[in-house]
Amino acid sequence: MSSLPINPPARLLMGPGPINADPRVLRAMSAQLVGQYDPAMTAYMTETMGLYRTVFDTANEATVLVDGTSRAGIEAALVSLIEPGDRVLVPVFGRFGHLLHEIAERCGAEVHTIETEWGTVFTPEQIEKAVARVRPKVLAVVHGDTSTTLAQPLDEFGEICRRHDVILYTDTTASLAGNTFSMDAWGVDVVSAGLQKCLAGPSGSAPISMSPRAVEVITARKSIEAGIRSEGDPVSASPIRSNYFDLAMILDYWGEKRLNHHTEATTMLYGARECARILVEEGIENAVERHRVHGTAMVEGLRGLGFEIFGDQRYRMNNVVGVAIPDGIDGDAARSAMLTDYGIEIGTSFGPLHGKIWRVGTMGYNARKDTVLTTLAVLEQVLRSGGVRVTAGGGVGAAHDFYADAL
Ligand SMILES: Cc1ncc(COP(=O)(O)O)c(C=O)c1O
Repeated sequence: MSSLPINPPARLLMGPGPINADPRVLRAMSAQLVGQYDPAMTAYMTETMGLYRTVFDTANEATVLVDGTSRAGIEAALVSLIEPGDRVLVPVFGRFGHLLHEIAERCGAEVHTIETEWGTVFTPEQIEKAVARVRPKVLAVVHGDTSTTLAQPLDEFGEICRRHDVILYTDTTASLAGNTFSMDAWGVDVVSAGLQKCLAGPSGSAPISMSPRAVEVITARKSIEAGIRSEGDPVSASPIRSNYFDLAMILDYWGEKRLNHHTEATTMLYGARECARILVEEGIENAVERHRVHGTAMVEGLRGLGFEIFGDQRYRMNNVVGVAIPDGIDGDAARSAMLTDYGIEIGTSFGPLHGKIWRVGTMGYNARKDTVLTTLAVLEQVLRSGGVRVTAGGGVGAAHDFYADAL
């Protein structure tokens, strides 16, 4: 059977991610391969470490890529930090908090959760109270939970964790580069992310950074695998329970030893490096501001169309907004009309929010004025087709008004 070459339909991805990749990233990913110990390759790896230190706002030497989607970064962090029987505290404010719980449990942790209604976040007091009660080894918390569109303020969590001698891990897949994140200033010990949201790349690489304190915990269980082990290399009685996600070995691969582990996913590394280069050229603060401006324009436009905005707006991520699906509209049918008639994708939702809200993203390469205005114009038509009364041009007009003041 013959098959046709890949030729995907033209789409404007305005959901909660993935989004259209920056063409620069796609170009970088079409470059030819080199060997994994070629000086060019090891130089790219070292440059990538430096670039992600800037993106995470950290001085951590241990800043590398985990090969795999964002979930791979989460698994690597948790399986490398947690020994079976360790207590882990997970504050859950959306779907991805449940994912941290699930992964920590599979690592053999005794997991304790606290929950808050989707659409709200925790106060530092609630966190400190739970930390004092549970006395966990690790506090694992999502920064921006795409499922609810909210970002949990983390700036006081590091100090709480220091006071109680707890390791702080956070997942910034949805929030990084679109919202302020300051690893060292906030006292975060381990952070992981992905490329497919505000970093403007495809999914498949998970940047991760570890504080010296976290590296100490992780390398205490270092066990070099047979076949590459030399005399005197450590063999732990309680090794990290995953070989692929063993950050102690991954650090030896990225570090001066260049001790072989996996074969670095060269094409993904080219892509991840380009994502970070673009951000560093723009300036991380400027990138966050770009997301704030276009994200707010989208919110103003959605309000102009009569949508009710979901969740506590003080904590909304800059890059994604949830809107209540108007009465009488079949959410999935309307989204599918947007895709087939206009080539625009917006997001559905999960769990308690499924069928109740849509999620509209303005992130990475798509955090732009033209994408915001086009999406609002199309949403107006979709509402009309569903029989909702809307002011003609109400969405685009409100966004234009906002831009007139903001730009
Ligand atoms: C906050 C958050 N964490 C983790 C993930 C999982 O990412 P991936 O699908 O790249 O593994 C996502 C994906 O949307 C996310 O939004």
